[in-house]
Amino acid sequence: MNKTVIIKEKIDCFNKKISVQGDKSLSIRCALIASQALGVSKVYNLLESEDVKSTLKTLRKLGIKIVYKKNYYEIYGNGLNGFSFSNNTIINAQNSGTLARLILGVLAKSNNSVILKGDNSLAKRDFSRVIKPLNYFGVKIKSNNNKLPIQFKGTQFLKPIFFEELKGSAQVKSCIMLAALNSPGTTKIKCIPSRDHTERFFNHIKVPIKKTREKEFDIIEVKGQKQYKSFNYKIPGDISSAAFFIVLTLLSKDSKILIKNLNVNKSRTGIIDILKKMNAKIKLKNRRVYKSEDIADIYVESSRSLKSINCPKIFNSRAIDEFLLIFLACAKAKGISYFKNIGELRHKECDRLKFGAKFLKMIGIKSIETKDSLKIYGNPNLSLNGEYEIKNYEKDHRVCMLSFVGALTLGGKWKIKDVESINTSFPKFIDIIKKIGAKIN
Ligand code: S3P
Repeated sequence: MNKTVIIKEKIDCFNKKISVQGDKSLSIRCALIASQALGVSKVYNLLESEDVKSTLKTLRKLGIKIVYKKNYYEIYGNGLNGFSFSNNTIINAQNSGTLARLILGVLAKSNNSVILKGDNSLAKRDFSRVIKPLNYFGVKIKSNNNKLPIQFKGTQFLKPIFFEELKGSAQVKSCIMLAALNSPGTTKIKCIPSRDHTERFFNHIKVPIKKTREKEFDIIEVKGQKQYKSFNYKIPGDISSAAFFIVLTLLSKDSKILIKNLNVNKSRTGIIDILKKMNAKIKLKNRRVYKSEDIADIYVESSRSLKSINCPKIFNSRAIDEFLLIFLACAKAKGISYFKNIGELRHKECDRLKFGAKFLKMIGIKSIETKDSLKIYGNPNLSLNGEYEIKNYEKDHRVCMLSFVGALTLGGKWKIKDVESINTSFPKFIDIIKKIGAKIN
C-alpha cells in the first residue's frame, strides 16, 4: 500500500479524554494461552491489529476454532497441546516477534513439524535466543543461521530445563514458560526482570508457578502438565500505545489529556518513571486490580521545564518499547541525557538505537551513539521550520508513530512514509490523533 502522510502544523491547547486499543502483549498471550485451555474462553477488547490477527490466523491453522461474536472472541481450547495440523504446516508470524518467539514454546510438544516464516523485518531478527533453550527441552529446530524461516518439530519427550536468561527479554522468558506447560516436572528460569504478563496470567489461571528474587534476578519455576480451565478476559489499554499521547501532550503547549483504562503493570511503566524524573507532570488515577493486572487512568499536562536524565539501567526493560519517545522528550529537555546498556534496542523491528541517533540528527540535536548507549544534548528551545522526510525504517510501527509526535510538536513540514505500518500495533492511532485536533493530509 505504501501510504504517505504530510503534516505541516503543530498541535497545541488541547484538553481531551481518550482511550487507546487493547494491550498487544496481553492480546497475544491471552489468545495463545486460551488455545490450550479446557473449554471456550471469551476475550473482550482484544487488540485488532496486524500482529494479533497473525496470532489468530496461526492458531486457526493449528486447528483451533475462533469465533468473533458481537464484542468478544470465543477461543475454543482443546487442553494442553490440543492442536491438530498436518506435517510441515506453514505459519507466518508476519511482523510479530512476540508471536514468532512464543508460538515456538507453545508447540514444544507437537507431533508434526511447522515452518515458521515472517516478513522482511522479522526475517532479519535473531532467533538463537529461543532456539537455545528449546533445544535443551529436546525440540528439533532447523534454521537459516538462527533466522527465519525455521523448521520446527516438537517432541513427546520434553525434558524440564534450567535456563539463565540474561537479555531481559520477556519473549524468551515466555517462550520457555509456555514450553514448560507441556513438560513433565519443574522448569526453572533465572532471568533479568522483564514484563511479567505471562507470570501474572499463569497465576490467574492457576498454573503452578513460583517466583522469587535472587539479587537482581527473578527465579521462576513452572510445574508442567497441569491442565487449566478456560477463562473470560477483558484486555486493558496498551501503555505502549498511550505513550505516544503522553509525550505528545508533554511537548505541546497548554495541553492536557486523560487516557482511560490502561494496563499499568510495574514492568511496563518505565516511561512514566523516566519522564517523572525529567520533571513531567503525570498522575495515575483510579488505580485498580483486574485479574492479576494493575489498571489505571493516566493524566498528563504539558511541561515547559523538562530536565535531562542519567537513566538508571533498571528502567531499561520496563521502558523497552518507549525509548524512541523518551529520546524525543530528551531532545527538548535542558541538559545532557544518558542511556546505557540499551543494546537490545538494536534487535527490535528496526535498529532503534541507530534510528534514534539518526532522528535526533535530523531534528538538529547532537547525540553520541555507541554500541549500547546514547548521549543526547537537549535543547529546550528546539523548534523546526524545514522539511523532513521519514522513510527506510523497516516499516517499524513505533518509528512511524514517533514521527507523528515529532511533526506535531516540533514544527516544520513532515512527509512520513509507509504509514500502514501503524496497523501492526495501533490501527486507531490516526483517528485518535485527528480527534485531538491534529491536521493531517
Ligand atoms: C514483548 C517483549 C519485548 C517487547 C515487545 C513485546 C512481549 O521484546 O519489545 O514489543 O510481549 O513479550 P523482548 O522480549 O525481545 O525484549
